[in-house]
Amino acid sequence: MEKFIVQGGKRLEGVIRVGGAKNSILPILAAVLLNKSGDEIILTNVPRIRDVIKMVEILRSLGAEITWSGNDMAVSTTNLTGFAVDEKLMREMRSTVFLMGAILARFGQVCISHPGGCAIGQRPIDLHLKGLMALGAQLREKHGYIYASCSRLTGADIHLDFPSVGATENIMLASVYARGVTVINNAAKEPEIVDLQNLLNKMGARIRGAGTDQVRIEGVSQLHGVQYAVIPDRIVAGTLMMAAVATGGDVTLEQIIPNHLDAVTAKLRETGVQIREENDRLRIQAPPRIRAIEFVRTLPYPGYPTDLQAPMMAVLARARGTSIIVENVFDSRFKHVGELNRMGAQIIVTTDNRTAIVHGVERMTGASVTAPDLRAGAALVVAGLAAEGETVIDGLEHIVRGYENLEGDLTKLGADIRRINDNT
Ligand code: UD1
Repeated sequence: MEKFIVQGGKRLEGVIRVGGAKNSILPILAAVLLNKSGDEIILTNVPRIRDVIKMVEILRSLGAEITWSGNDMAVSTTNLTGFAVDEKLMREMRSTVFLMGAILARFGQVCISHPGGCAIGQRPIDLHLKGLMALGAQLREKHGYIYASCSRLTGADIHLDFPSVGATENIMLASVYARGVTVINNAAKEPEIVDLQNLLNKMGARIRGAGTDQVRIEGVSQLHGVQYAVIPDRIVAGTLMMAAVATGGDVTLEQIIPNHLDAVTAKLRETGVQIREENDRLRIQAPPRIRAIEFVRTLPYPGYPTDLQAPMMAVLARARGTSIIVENVFDSRFKHVGELNRMGAQIIVTTDNRTAIVHGVERMTGASVTAPDLRAGAALVVAGLAAEGETVIDGLEHIVRGYENLEGDLTKLGADIRRINDNT
């Protein structure tokens, strides 16, 4: 089993570059399946993380030809052979649900196994399925599989009950070749949706409105190859910001889009951290101990991101005073609380599992902890950097889903963190 061993108490300092966004590249890898032209698609700034590697495996299993060169990738989808996503691959990665829209649009049919629940709540896919049905897809669910088919999808007016990121992307992908116009109302506004729109439009699609709550897709009959750079990962950037804050550090992030982090920056400023933004750089200078903040409420973009709720909790655990964190996006996203408390934090979760009351403590101490999911794992790393003594973090398989080289980045900034393979 792989583990991180962190010796806490080292102040982080220096400059670090942030790579491409996991939540952009995953739907983009679905979008490339729409390309029937015979042209290649070149993607740059692609993070080499576990989720991307899994997605590449899935694409290859459908017949795509993919070659990597560093963080660049060439994809040819001329000779696709299948429309059924292998169950084992599907189970390993929930994000495959938005392959549905793209495969359906390309082949007129798709078969995936139902993604089921996951560590951070039920994560239903009803909004995805309702959207596809509104476009004319016929759905059957049997023995844990979902089979969808259509002749040609037809544009429709769709209203999402909740601005789901995945459902917005899935419907965008499904409607690129649809007859007529599709309008998604109450669409999610995340920057990754804008990135997907930009890629698709560069391939010849006609989409506008991404980044607002109404996305309008005019169906086209052809797409073509493209070269495209994935936007920087705002969640990785935010995690590194938290790591800097946890250690009272002075860190500059490079190659990011600072305004994607506005909600995070605003909250950190409330704690007494100084943040300066300049073009694609952001410098964080943190005091040895931050102030608590009254409330952090996770919300769809541009609200405070749920993916940075756990890392924020890890820094507030050592703040002066009490902070309240409300999780509004997912129904079970406080699995890190018990682990942080093992390290000396004093955090209570209300019975509805929505609110955490964080009583800041002066000191946290190293302990053996387990990452319950991706971002909770990142939070434990952040906590370990600030804790006294040694923290051993298990469950690395979650963390490597979304961070290309977290230990390398942190080491570069002066942290003492090692990745070990312990076969006990
Ligand atoms: C995406 C991100 C994830 C992030 C989340 C919220 C990717 C690959 N993942 O996940 O990192 O934490 O956005 O910012 O981009 N919901 C339904 N029915 C549906 C779909 C969603 O009820 O059909 C609910 C979910 O249970 C959840 C909420 O909507 O409570 C938000 O989910 P959604 O925005 O869809 O998140 P994902 O796309 O899964």
